[in-house]
Amino acid sequence: MDWIKSRLEQLKLDSLWREAKVFAGEGFPTINLCSNDYLGLAKHPEVIEAAGIALVSYGASASSSRLVSGTLSVHQKLETALAKFKKSPRALSFGTGYLANLGLITSVVRRSDLLFCDRLIHASLVDGIALSRAKCHRYRHNSLEHLSDLLAKYSASRRSEQNFFIVTESVFSMDGDLAPLTGLAELAKKYNAILIVDEAHALGVFGDCGRGLVNELKIDDEIILSSATFSKAMGSYGGVVFCEEDICQLLVNIARPLIYNTALPPAQAGAALAAIDIIESSKNLGEELLKRARFFAKLLSNAGLNTMNCESQIVPVLVGDNEKTLRVASKLREEGIYLVAIRPPTVPHGQSRLRISVSLTHSYQQLEHAAIKLIKIATTEGLI
Ligand SMILES: Cc1ncc(COP(=O)(O)O)c(C=O)c1O
Repeated sequence: MDWIKSRLEQLKLDSLWREAKVFAGEGFPTINLCSNDYLGLAKHPEVIEAAGIALVSYGASASSSRLVSGTLSVHQKLETALAKFKKSPRALSFGTGYLANLGLITSVVRRSDLLFCDRLIHASLVDGIALSRAKCHRYRHNSLEHLSDLLAKYSASRRSEQNFFIVTESVFSMDGDLAPLTGLAELAKKYNAILIVDEAHALGVFGDCGRGLVNELKIDDEIILSSATFSKAMGSYGGVVFCEEDICQLLVNIARPLIYNTALPPAQAGAALAAIDIIESSKNLGEELLKRARFFAKLLSNAGLNTMNCESQIVPVLVGDNEKTLRVASKLREEGIYLVAIRPPTVPHGQSRLRISVSLTHSYQQLEHAAIKLIKIATTEGLI
């Protein structure tokens, strides 16, 4: 098929070529600045032990979907613990965070409803919206003003049975900034809309004992639908939807990613369960992480680098040009600092960047070392 060859050629010409390379971090003097293992729990002995116990008890696979014989007691224990942790009536686990978002949106949104989403939401939310086949209006990133205008405009022709949904992330994955959740909740109330919040990068980091940004802002009672993943701060794999009882029943009955997908592997559920326990009992892991991230971001911004509006453990460094971003990342790797260039379509055109995930596995000394190297390379590349 000729079109495939020319598509691949074009990706190379545009500096948009991607490869899934083996990360040589293990045993190498490399500082990995792009892992989402924010709290270092993926290698925590208690998390690994819990995964091992679940693996031995239940086997390597749940071996069928949740509605057949795939629901194991470890799933139930995990969901009970997650609901209690997030102060939500119910928590329902999915194979991944991607599937959780797909399942949630395609189940609660009907084709005749209307969605309003932040321009920068994650691909899993975008794909869920596309699959719902409902019409969606995108508002400018974090702009309450633009959203308010759109809600007012479309309220005029709203049909009585039509639901309005607002969709956002709480911590934006590629920008590291925070959604104005309190303002979004107010707009949702004013226009009788349902707010869906993806807490993928907030769970374990923000809020009381890592309960998320919704919790930190004390709007738990107003957000009835949220999702998260176990693959970031929780150091495991899998996803979850937090919701009320009847929505949980709806998802169990109609969410295709739950019905037609083998249940979360028991080892991953066991690991996630242990991670929640550690996050809750350690109390200040998120606070310490954010302290390190602020320290690192300040070193970069003081040197003149554009770290955008980051307010979390995700620190972007805006470069702009695809080729230059690739070059900076490659030079950093030569210096033992592992980063990859984030390019379109993951971020908008002209906004290629380095996306640094600060983790508790990074010492202050390592962060300072990485910042010095990055500033030096950025200077030679004319970024500052
Ligand atoms: C905001 C957001 N939502 C959902 C996901 C999907 O999570 P998972 O990797 O568990 O599929 C990710 C990350 O990949 C994400 O960044």
